[in-house]
Amino acid sequence: MATGIPDKPADDLTRDEAAAELERLAREIGEHDRHYHTEDAPVISDAEYDALWRRHSAIEARFPDLAHPDGPSRRVGAPAAAGFAKVSHSRPMLSLENAFGEDDIVAFFDRVRRFLNLGADEAIEAVGEPKIDGLSVALRYEKGNFILGATRGDGTVGEDITRNLRTVTDLPKVLTGLCPDILEIRGEVYMRKDEFATLNQTRAKAGEAVFANPRNAAAGSLRQLDPSITATRPLHFFAYALGETSGPVGRTHWESLDRLKSWGLAVNTHARVCRGPTEAIELYNEINQSRGDLAYDIDGVVFKVNRIDWQDRLGTVSRAPRWAVAYKFEAARAETVLKKITIQVGRTGTLTPVAELEPVTVGGVVVSRATLHNEDEIARKDIREGDRVLIQRAGDVIPQVISVIEGKAGERANPYVFPERCPVCDSRAVRDEGEVARRCTGGLVCPAQAVERLRHFVSRDAFDIEGLGTRHILAMWEDGLIARPGDIFRLGGESQNLLEREGWGERSAENLLAAIEERRQIPLGRFIYALGIRQVGQSTSRLLAKHYVSLDDWRHAMTEAQDADSDAYASLVAIDGIGPSVAADILGFFAEEHNRQVLDDLAGEVNITEFEGARDTDSPIAGKTIVFTGTLVSMTRGEAKARAETLGAKVTGSVSAQTDYVVIGADAGSKADKARSLGVEVLSEDEWTRMTGGG
Ligand code: IVH
Repeated sequence: MATGIPDKPADDLTRDEAAAELERLAREIGEHDRHYHTEDAPVISDAEYDALWRRHSAIEARFPDLAHPDGPSRRVGAPAAAGFAKVSHSRPMLSLENAFGEDDIVAFFDRVRRFLNLGADEAIEAVGEPKIDGLSVALRYEKGNFILGATRGDGTVGEDITRNLRTVTDLPKVLTGLCPDILEIRGEVYMRKDEFATLNQTRAKAGEAVFANPRNAAAGSLRQLDPSITATRPLHFFAYALGETSGPVGRTHWESLDRLKSWGLAVNTHARVCRGPTEAIELYNEINQSRGDLAYDIDGVVFKVNRIDWQDRLGTVSRAPRWAVAYKFEAARAETVLKKITIQVGRTGTLTPVAELEPVTVGGVVVSRATLHNEDEIARKDIREGDRVLIQRAGDVIPQVISVIEGKAGERANPYVFPERCPVCDSRAVRDEGEVARRCTGGLVCPAQAVERLRHFVSRDAFDIEGLGTRHILAMWEDGLIARPGDIFRLGGESQNLLEREGWGERSAENLLAAIEERRQIPLGRFIYALGIRQVGQSTSRLLAKHYVSLDDWRHAMTEAQDADSDAYASLVAIDGIGPSVAADILGFFAEEHNRQVLDDLAGEVNITEFEGARDTDSPIAGKTIVFTGTLVSMTRGEAKARAETLGAKVTGSVSAQTDYVVIGADAGSKADKARSLGVEVLSEDEWTRMTGGG
């Protein structure tokens, strides 16, 4: 950069340089705020955005009198995105499992066959349809009239965008023909490629920011608080699934698509029934070849098991149905120059190498940074600063460096040496046996970790506290006001008058405290997610909440599970979706005194509500612990387990005094004996089927 200032540590800046730098940062932050909040089109990662803030705060702290009255730190949070009401989806809006090659498609059909226990000669039909690269929405029709439309949101709760959806072309306000009284239709809102280009031209002429791709343009247009703006944007809709319906719609997915068409909805014309993996791969290849000719962007082909009764039996795992898979197209690639390798420190202390690139357009998006994964990858691919590299971007995934195309013209730089100290706090960065990542040992004394963890804690999918941005967290952390999560809930205390802090007005302080109060009650799943345990994302958190129901039960079980021979451990790793590695991270969290204190402290401040979710509390097996053993005849073990869980039961692998029922199939061995000796009730497969309403 021309001035050289951006690279200079904040502590070394002269007063004049600091003033210039504050102005530049303020401008950049303002710009990114706008991209993010108003245009739904962030151009940098959260970590990069935070780095701008960190630098801004550091400079302001050194030269407080240079702080500008209108500067970014005088504003609180983002302009209210409050405009939309929340809508709970009557059935969760799921995501899809991805397939990346032909093998994955073969495996998908195999899995379905095994789960349903179908004979080798029984054909499995699946409908293949283009995966539209837009925004998924749910439309509710009552007696044929469109009454409510919502975004997907987190899959459970979305935003009410009914008024905006009314402006979408090909979205009928009234359905034609006979249809169930209650009918929820799901599909994708998208913008056509030509219309996207025209829209961007107009915007560029008017000096407005352009959208990165049709998907962002559609999202930005649909999330306008003023529907009259949405109305000026060319948006379309394809229907591809049903949500809640008051009556049956079809016996197969294909029939449902026909019904949707008959009611006047747009259904994609490239959909086709495929009988098995060979035909599915054929369809994929056809669609892949012609995708350039389509009027809209697609990013793969979705395959859905055609028979609805089979879909019902297959059910869902975690957040995706077992009866569908998305075969994604190959990622877009491009060549560029790697200018520099920098290191990012994440919330768990992981040092991630990042490639700073000469900006290049990949699949319609300008990319200036890409991940290098870890130090072994850099060594394996022998990536050095100044090299010409091949990068790849797939959908929403972070761009990555694939390989070196050629070394730097002239002399190549020396091989990259991975730092052994944390670039943020200078603590030692160590690499544990068998781990690929190097981790900062600074723990909570490392600002990157402490602030990142707190930021995660208040983030949207966790505690969702509005108005407590990274900058505030950093400043409060530096002043010792917030050292651990529980402190957030004590901010309103007498001794901590927010008003005396720089940058807070009466209104902003009141708003923040109100936002915090509102979150004193939180469902267990969100709470677990907020803790930021390594490998425990939203869906794992939900699994844990569903399995353990209350914080006390979970805590208790995790204490017992520290012993790898305990039933508690067996039960933890028996949860579908939790393997030994995730379990190790969860148990590692509980093994640390410091973390247990954080939990105790929080439990005193917030009210953690028990998991209710998908659990069927009326079923006779709700809340019971069940063990399956032996070979089942009418269904596979996986199917039985899924069914039991849907009905609210907990399925474990070993029999103990806590077990309520043991279901025995053919050739049951020692578990059946153990059950009898412990006096646990033993059920035959038939008895179990009757009890759970089947057969
Ligand atoms: S079916 C239960 N069909 O892909 C399955 N999804 O990665 C529900 N999408 O959130 C989705 N085209 O936004 C389905 N023909 C199609 C689709 C499609 C695009 C999107 C949808 C979903 C995402 C999952």
